Amino acid sequence: MGVKRNMAESLWPESFQQIPLHEAEFQLICQWLYQAAGIRLAPNKKALVASRLNGRLRELEFTSFRRYYELISSNQDAQAPSERQRAIDVLTTNETFFFREDSHFSFIRENVLPLFRGQHLKCWSAASSTGEEAYTLAMVLASHHQGSWQIIGTDINAEVIEKAKKGVYPMQRAENIPKPYLHQYCLKGTGEKSLQFKVSRELRSQVEFRHANLQQLPERLGSFDLVLLRNVMIYFDQSSKQRVVSNIIRHMNVGGFLLIGHAESLTGVTDQVSLLQPSVYRLGRKS
Ligand SMILES: C[S@@+](CC[C@H](N)C(=O)[O-])C[C@H]1O[C@@H](n2cnc3c(N)ncnc32)[C@H](O)[C@@H]1O
Repeated sequence: MGVKRNMAESLWPESFQQIPLHEAEFQLICQWLYQAAGIRLAPNKKALVASRLNGRLRELEFTSFRRYYELISSNQDAQAPSERQRAIDVLTTNETFFFREDSHFSFIRENVLPLFRGQHLKCWSAASSTGEEAYTLAMVLASHHQGSWQIIGTDINAEVIEKAKKGVYPMQRAENIPKPYLHQYCLKGTGEKSLQFKVSRELRSQVEFRHANLQQLPERLGSFDLVLLRNVMIYFDQSSKQRVVSNIIRHMNVGGFLLIGHAESLTGVTDQVSLLQPSVYRLGRKS
């Protein structure tokens, strides 16, 4: 039996061998991620965490996850802050797509924009990932808002923010974009870039992306009339949700709208906003 295992191991180059993630190490990493981002990892995510971090451990030439945990939780090591960001970039789930939960964009067109006609509308995509949500909103505003507007997209993951700033996507990502918007706001790549498209300069110039942690928002973010906080609270427990939503409400104008994912709820999270319809809330009333 022992001989067989040795033979099997020898077939694999060292770079393919997985460093085992022990339960106690998994618990330490879960606690660290919760402190850093408010994200609760379910027990069944252990294999995912191991596979997502294994490459990083090998690059650092670490032989155990405990050593990696010591680095990211250190206050002394000069490498710790950048490694903490890398760990967050690897451990967050960033799935998103253009016109996701499309009924929100119809709601905005039909119910929000008429209230702000002729005014400057400040919008925030609060967990923007790679930018599809913010650019979807930009297409709707550029086409339908009679007034000026601006959008800020923020995310805790630094890599997705860099991608969002570029506004370049593989062609398959265009599938959900209605044709008129696609023709007006998306530029098809040529030559080597023919399988990509880029969001037009006109839209990109009105959408700004910044790194921000919803658990500890910078005071100078501004105040917003429309906030999209969609498909991020699913990763939070009740107290993280409460902290994040109260942080967000501090950056909303009275009469502002807060839209959350259809699978999410603010029940027991806040009584500061009123439910208008499932997943759509409003802060006070605009006089
Ligand atoms: C599944 S994506 C949702 C993207 C988009 N809102 C949508 O609905 O398609 C969730 C995003 O939330 C971000 N996120 C998780 N925790 C965060 C936190 N504490 N602060 C800011 N962003 C966070 C992740 O990095 C990820 O990009």
